[in-house]
Amino acid sequence: MRPLRLQLKGFTSFRDEQEIDFSSLDLFAIAGPTGAGKSSLLDAVTYALYGWVERVGGECGQLISQGLPSMAVTLEFDIDGARWRVTRRTYRKGATETLLERLTDGKWAPEAGKVREVNERVSALIGLDYDGFTRAVLLPQGRFDQFLAGDAKDRRRILTDLLDLHLYERMQKQALATAKQSKDRVDFLHQQLGTDFAGVDEAALSAERERIVALRDREKRLVGVRKRVQQIVERRHAVLGALDGLRGCAVEAREHIGAADGVARELTRLAADISRAERDATVASKRAIDATKAAETALAKLDAARERFGTIKDLHELEKKADRFVVARDELVTLQVTIKDAEAAATTLRERLAARKQALTAARAVETRDRDARVAARKVYEKAQHDSALAAVGQGLRKGDRCPVCGNVLTVAPKIAPSASLERAKTALERAETASEASREAVDHAEDGLKDVDREQRSLSEQLAAARKASTERAKVVRETQDGLRQVFGARVPSDPATALRDRIDEFEELDDDLRTADSAASRAREAATTAHAQRTALLASLETEKARIPLAAATALVTRATSLAAAPLPAFAARAPVDGDAAAFAAFATELGQGLTHLAATIDGLVKERGVDERSFVDEAALVAGDLVPRAETLDAFADALDTAVRKAAGDASAAEERAKRIERDLARKAELSGELVDNEKRAQLMSTLAKDLRADAIVDFVQAEALRTLAAEGTSRLSYLSSERYRLRFRDEEFYVVDVWNGEEERSVRTLSGGETFLASLALALALSEQIRALATTERAHLDSLFVDEGFGALDAETLTTVVSGIERLGADNGRLIGVISHVRDLTDQFPRIEVEKSQRGSSVKLIVR
Ligand SMILES: Nc1ncnc2c1ncn2[C@@H]1O[C@H](COP(=O)(O)OP(=O)(O)OP(=O)(O)O)[C@@H](O)[C@H]1O
Ligand SMILES: [Mg+2]
Repeated sequence: MRPLRLQLKGFTSFRDEQEIDFSSLDLFAIAGPTGAGKSSLLDAVTYALYGWVERVGGECGQLISQGLPSMAVTLEFDIDGARWRVTRRTYRKGATETLLERLTDGKWAPEAGKVREVNERVSALIGLDYDGFTRAVLLPQGRFDQFLAGDAKDRRRILTDLLDLHLYERMQKQALATAKQSKDRVDFLHQQLGTDFAGVDEAALSAERERIVALRDREKRLVGVRKRVQQIVERRHAVLGALDGLRGCAVEAREHIGAADGVARELTRLAADISRAERDATVASKRAIDATKAAETALAKLDAARERFGTIKDLHELEKKADRFVVARDELVTLQVTIKDAEAAATTLRERLAARKQALTAARAVETRDRDARVAARKVYEKAQHDSALAAVGQGLRKGDRCPVCGNVLTVAPKIAPSASLERAKTALERAETASEASREAVDHAEDGLKDVDREQRSLSEQLAAARKASTERAKVVRETQDGLRQVFGARVPSDPATALRDRIDEFEELDDDLRTADSAASRAREAATTAHAQRTALLASLETEKARIPLAAATALVTRATSLAAAPLPAFAARAPVDGDAAAFAAFATELGQGLTHLAATIDGLVKERGVDERSFVDEAALVAGDLVPRAETLDAFADALDTAVRKAAGDASAAEERAKRIERDLARKAELSGELVDNEKRAQLMSTLAKDLRADAIVDFVQAEALRTLAAEGTSRLSYLSSERYRLRFRDEEFYVVDVWNGEEERSVRTLSGGETFLASLALALALSEQIRALATTERAHLDSLFVDEGFGALDAETLTTVVSGIERLGADNGRLIGVISHVRDLTDQFPRIEVEKSQRGSSVKLIVR
């Protein structure tokens, strides 16, 4: 362990944060006046590492700077090239926080956080607990002589830690554990070999192998016998099979007989049907020919009629024409009568018209006269009226009066006429008007009469004109139709041509009906002929089917098979089908085939009866073959089954014996393996017991510790000799260090008898030797004491000794990379080294690095 940097705050007199960088130092002093805080810096180191400080033990809270709530220390250090950092903070109220970190890839990574965990990790890393650390690395003020003159047990314990002598303890434990393990294994193997492998030996294996040979031999003989019995069984099955086959042939022959008889019957029926169908076809053909001829005759008649009268369509046309002719002719006659009557009526009408005109002229003359008379009467009346009015107005008027009508002055007095003439004039006028009215009506009447006659005459003229026009049209129709009729009837067209034509049409239709009837009869007859022929063809096809159903091929194959099964010739039958026969010939052949098959079936029946099989002779033969390998069975199948079972059992027994033999072989190999393992374990148990015994009672540890102490004494001697100006040498004996005083006849005395300054020199010599030699003495790589701090002790030295000590420390202490720090308030000493100056003030202590 080598400190690199120390940071502290609120620790004893260091109220403010202080930092010390040790990295550039190797041999240095911590200087300062009494109570400045020198020891506090080393206390800060053990506080950070172990949470323990020499002067207060675990009660570190006491070291919190008065008036501050907490203190904190961080120590960065190096162990074998690895960088670590431990931080510890304690609060006045008692709580403590810790953190152990390691620098990995340039970053601080936490390694432990709990107080106990951090403490254990630090002890393990440094390889020393607090006690070891303060005796070998950091020698606190007033206690630097603990290793030299302290308790022997503590010294040995520190050496065990420093030299990692726990290794031997661990080795002993391991040896004991291995010895026990091996012993347990030995016991287990003894037990297993005595139980699981009892009876597993070569003799057992030989016996099993002999059993296998015997069992395989029996199996082989049984297989041979089984094969021969199997042959007997097969032979018997062959005989039985042939008889079964023959029985089957008989059955089949009978089936064929049935088929052949059936076909024969069917063929016989077909023969009759075919001859009947042939007859029917001939008759139908003849009928068809006759009917066709009749149809041809009807057609010829119809053609002749057409030749004579044209087609029936023409006749129908003519018929219509004849109808029109008759109608027109009759209408023409009527019209001519009408015209004659109208011409007579026209004459009468002309006479009446003349009379009417005369009457009208007379009436008009009367009317003119009466009108004139009326006009004259009116004039008279109007004069009478005027006269009368004048008389009324002029009543009283005199000459010279102004006229009330015209305003003129009357020159004469008006004359007044008598009123009787007005009445007469009026009566005359009324008579004249009545007469005029009557003559006027007579004129109107004469005019109406004239108009009636005139109307009548126009109407008659129209009728006459219409009759004449119609007569002309009918005459034209008569002419035209008559021409057409003449083509058929010649010059003498009958008076009723339509009836004559209808008779001919009837005749035509009759011929047409005859033709249709004849045609349909002919086609029916032809259909019947076709049907009859088709029937015949179908029957002939059935004949082919039936012929094919004659079981000739099957019967022939049956005869061949039966002959083979019988292994003897059988009565063959001449079964040859007619080459070109009709149905009757084939029917006869089918009957003949049936008879042949009947004979064959009977022959086979006889043969089967004659060759019945007796199983006993086969069983006897099998028993002879089997000998005493299996007991005799009742049937051949039972014999075969028994042999099967016996073969299987023999094979199974042999296989089981082989399995057993294999297992014995495996067990033998395993037994040898386990025996070897037993011997090995016995040896190992023995060896480990011996080793454990050798390591027991710390004999080796004691030895190594004693050797180390002796070496330290020897190494310390050379340093002490120098520091004491050749006066003292160190010796270790009976768990104690002694000094040999050269000045006093090299007498040996306890180190406890040395003066304060001498004790410091001896302790310093031993500490330097320890930190140097520890590497050579250690059993493992872990013990590296890279630093040494000595707090005070120098105060007890005189000036001359101090000079020797300074040069001694420089010479003895400073070697490769080790950090050695001496703490003193003695200026003469500290001025010799680069130093950390600790200054005190009322505000608190502070540090300052002073390099020479
Ligand atoms: N809790 C505390 N608060 C304040 N000061 C404290 C506390 N504990 C100790 N001190 C003081 O801190 C000062 C430093 O003590 P330290 O033992 O470190 O001194 P020193 O430099 O080693 O002295 P010396 O040369 O006498 O050994 C002392 O004055 C001590 O009384
Ligand atoms: Mg001190």
